[in-house]
Amino acid sequence: MNGLTVRRGRTAVLHDVDLEVRAGEFTAIVGANGAGKTTLLQAIAGVIRPPRGTVRVAGRDVARTDARRLSDRIGFVFQNPEHQFIAHTAFDELAHGLRVRRMPEHDVRARTLAMLDRFGLADHRDVHPFQLSGGQKRRLSVGTALITGAPVLALDEPTFGQDRSRADELLALLRELHDEGTTVLVVTHDMQLVTDHADRTVVLAGGRILRVGDTDAVFADDDLIERSGLLPPPLRRALRDLSSHPALAEVTRIADLPDEPTAAVPL
Ligand SMILES: Nc1ncnc2c1ncn2[C@@H]1O[C@H](COP(=O)(O)OP(=O)(O)O)[C@@H](O)[C@H]1O
Ligand SMILES: [Mg+2]
Repeated sequence: MNGLTVRRGRTAVLHDVDLEVRAGEFTAIVGANGAGKTTLLQAIAGVIRPPRGTVRVAGRDVARTDARRLSDRIGFVFQNPEHQFIAHTAFDELAHGLRVRRMPEHDVRARTLAMLDRFGLADHRDVHPFQLSGGQKRRLSVGTALITGAPVLALDEPTFGQDRSRADELLALLRELHDEGTTVLVVTHDMQLVTDHADRTVVLAGGRILRVGDTDAVFADDDLIERSGLLPPPLRRALRDLSSHPALAEVTRIADLPDEPTAAVPL
């Protein structure tokens, strides 16, 4: 995207943002609350129209593409999956995107059943989306975003409010989709998600891009992470606490380690 400026009311929320995401990458967008992450993701997916600048997805100008064509290219998963549910059963929720494209009902059925199966929802096909568990809702929303075969998936805080094991389940699914070639863009506060899964990281602050780079390089810059109001990922924090511990301050060789490191280094 080029020169993307987005206003909300009278204030510019994104200022002249340039960003290129290559096909097949797993990209994380991070930053403090209010940095503009959701706005950026929604502008990329065409959920909101930018007043200035262009966004292209697979070569197509998002602002000039109708919603249906756009959702063939990029699927969007809202922070709260309930915001996107429109049908009365999980089956119909998935089938909707295919039916509006006038796919023959026989094919709709086959494709929807395959998706239910793949996302672990086969036994819940007749359940109302609102009655599903949190993890099932999330999987249904990802399935809905992808059922028409969009090559790009954009997710806003997909692990928000979930415990680690449910979050990991979703991440395994994203990993799988990514391995099959889906371009994944994810807005998140979950730094473990970012360092474990994202090839590239975009750091936003105050509606501007502070840094775009390979995830490892971005997180190796402790100053940048602190300036942008982010918590370093747990492992990095643990290592930093370890290296700043007085008992270890001058340790450079294994032989210099205290005899009983666990006793000497309470973490
Ligand atoms: N609909 C809206 N109307 C007015 N201001 C908004 C609206 N949505 C977001 N904002 C403002 O835009 C800024 C960026 O918001 P957002 O993109 O939601 O940030 P993030 O997702 O990084 O927390 C914030 O200052 C927020 O208050
Ligand atoms: Mg947000």
